[in-house]
Amino acid sequence: METTVIACIKNRIGSGPSCAGSGSEAIAEALEAALREKGMGVAVRRIQCLGSCKEGPNMRIAPGGPMFHHLTLADVPRLVEAISAFLTAKGPS
Ligand code: FES
Repeated sequence: METTVIACIKNRIGSGPSCAGSGSEAIAEALEAALREKGMGVAVRRIQCLGSCKEGPNMRIAPGGPMFHHLTLADVPRLVEAISAFLTAKGPS
């Protein structure tokens, strides 16, 4: 199974915490651009909720990777490094 990043883009602005309410869509776009620029071949898949709404914005490396909470645009380089390390640990698919 190909490695992807799952990004929550649930928007509940005005009715509770949500990842999009804290900027997750911009983070997903920036991560997508960074991964494309590095030619890493990892897609960012947008979904509606990872079940940790109060800790958002949330993303997870899948399958089997770590989840990241409270993300900001400044975390994009750290995410790219984590994805790279995950791919290295996973080995060739
Ligand atoms: S709204 Fe993002 S985890 Fe629920």
